Amino acid sequence: MKIAVVGPGALGCLVAGFLKQRTKEEVWLYDRLEERSVRIRDNSIKIEGISGPYTVKVNVSANSKEIGPCDLVIICVKSYSTEDACKDIKELVAENTSILTIQNGIGNMQILNDHFGAEKVIGGITNHGSTLLGVGHVRHAGRGDTIIGKADGRLSGALKNVAAVLTKAGFETKISKDIDAVIWSKLIINVGINALTAATRLNNGRLVEYEECRELLRSAVQEAVKIVKRKRIKLAYDDPIQKVESVCKATATNVSSMLQDVLNKKRTEIDFINGAVVRQGKALGIPTPVNEVLTNLVRTIEKSYDKVAK
Ligand code: PAF
Repeated sequence: MKIAVVGPGALGCLVAGFLKQRTKEEVWLYDRLEERSVRIRDNSIKIEGISGPYTVKVNVSANSKEIGPCDLVIICVKSYSTEDACKDIKELVAENTSILTIQNGIGNMQILNDHFGAEKVIGGITNHGSTLLGVGHVRHAGRGDTIIGKADGRLSGALKNVAAVLTKAGFETKISKDIDAVIWSKLIINVGINALTAATRLNNGRLVEYEECRELLRSAVQEAVKIVKRKRIKLAYDDPIQKVESVCKATATNVSSMLQDVLNKKRTEIDFINGAVVRQGKALGIPTPVNEVLTNLVRTIEKSYDKVAK
């Protein structure tokens, strides 16, 4: 199988590194920035943490024509870059290419469907934690399930092949017939954790140690759950608040992906997480005041990195 991983961030480097290290497939990493792509190609991907340390040499290119058509394209860019990535990767996609998204937030599958057609697109989530330490250098911070599926619930041969190759690479992968529910189940966790960690600069575990913060977490989750109920989505767990709080405890020392972005003064995925809840709430007539405050707070933080009082 010829596989291209799109995006050299924390998850993209982990996925490309795992695939290259543990399978015999042809693996490429696509990075739209030429200079950075050369650095990763020359210095290899470095993985440390629970599955490292090791260094893996991968093919890296900023030129999608050089990579050419692939059997599988795995989208690992930040959600706000999906639209641009779709334009960049046209040369990677041929008639029988599968395109998998394992990004955070909701809306990515729809963007891929609009560009390439739903028959090619596979949705997914992964609960592996990864932290970007430098260019091409990541810390594998935690293991977890990876779940993938087609929007129409169909179990195609291509889908099974993708699950098999990811499992071989070290991402224990299950197939779901209801991938929308899987993505919303992950979203609810990110809704409760990410913006609050970004605003407070706390590790995941600390969110439940302060009553005021815990109250905000619960309210943000409850608002999102109202939307889920109205949309008749069946979450993967019965008690969403208990689930989010248990993830806080299980990942207690994690610096959430959104807090990593804030600490690195980068744009965050707020518009695809709490911001998406606000948009869906508006469309359905469901008030989401806490998610609105969290969204506006994080947007203010990301617009004002160079203006904070000292
Ligand atoms: O975005 C993240 O950081 C992760 O999805 C999670 C589950 C919140 C753990 O840090």
